Amino acid sequence: MANESATITVMKMAARKASIRLKRDYGEVGHLLISKKGPGDFVTAADVRTEKILREELGKARPDFGFLMEESGEIRGNDYNRRWIVDPIDGTTNFIHGLAHFSICIALEEYGQVTAGLIFDPINEELFWAEKGTGAYLNDQRVRVSSQQNLKNSIFATGIPFGNNLSKIEQNDFLQKMQGVMSASAGIRRFGSASLDLAYVAAGRFEGYWENKLNLWDIAAGILIVREAGGIVTDLYGKDYMATNGSIIAANPSLHKPLLDLVKLKV
Ligand code: IPD
Ligand code: CA
Ligand code: CA
Repeated sequence: MANESATITVMKMAARKASIRLKRDYGEVGHLLISKKGPGDFVTAADVRTEKILREELGKARPDFGFLMEESGEIRGNDYNRRWIVDPIDGTTNFIHGLAHFSICIALEEYGQVTAGLIFDPINEELFWAEKGTGAYLNDQRVRVSSQQNLKNSIFATGIPFGNNLSKIEQNDFLQKMQGVMSASAGIRRFGSASLDLAYVAAGRFEGYWENKLNLWDIAAGILIVREAGGIVTDLYGKDYMATNGSIIAANPSLHKPLLDLVKLKV
């Protein structure tokens, strides 16, 4: 049984509370009020409602902390050095298509460092979480990245660009890179939730994952969870910090470099 801090307990309680309504909304997905945010990227009433519950619950427990939330943006707290980074539904397109693969994501950032992260898949009751320095967990079980060393036996997840989120040149570059990974590996998966892609790398289900054009709320929790599970995470230039350019590659230590060699972006 994992030893957990009061902070992660607060995060788990908030996520579980928000998930009750979210699951009901998912059951009624056809009736939800849907408004378009941009091609391939929708906001549903459920996103807004889930975010509101998370904000209330986290705010009640830690009234001074600020927020960075996908739907509400930046909300300054009295404590300038601590904020919750929240994606209320990561995998909204899956959600509105009735595909049971989405999550609630919460990360705590303190003095610019993520110190706790949680990714909750409410349909499968899988709660991935980590605190800095204490390992990564799926529910109460410790998780580790896969020990596979061979590209040809490995599967990798990615986010295939959609709509106009990449230019034609970037799309072609992506296709070329995907072809390299296709030929070298046992296959590529596109599941539609960046956070769960990272959580699955942490749990050893995928050997690695790469994607471009993400936001901090998609990856903040997952970066910590993968690292605490023994994985390596960098941006697609091979550098340490992904939050500034929104590109990410996460993999087990044996396969991070081989995968990066195949998908690296030019500086
Ligand atoms: C999206 C998902 C998806 C990724 C997109 C994200 P959202 O988040 O994580 O897998 O490919 O780039 O925007 O919109 O469902 O919160
Ligand atoms: Ca997201
Ligand atoms: Ca979202």
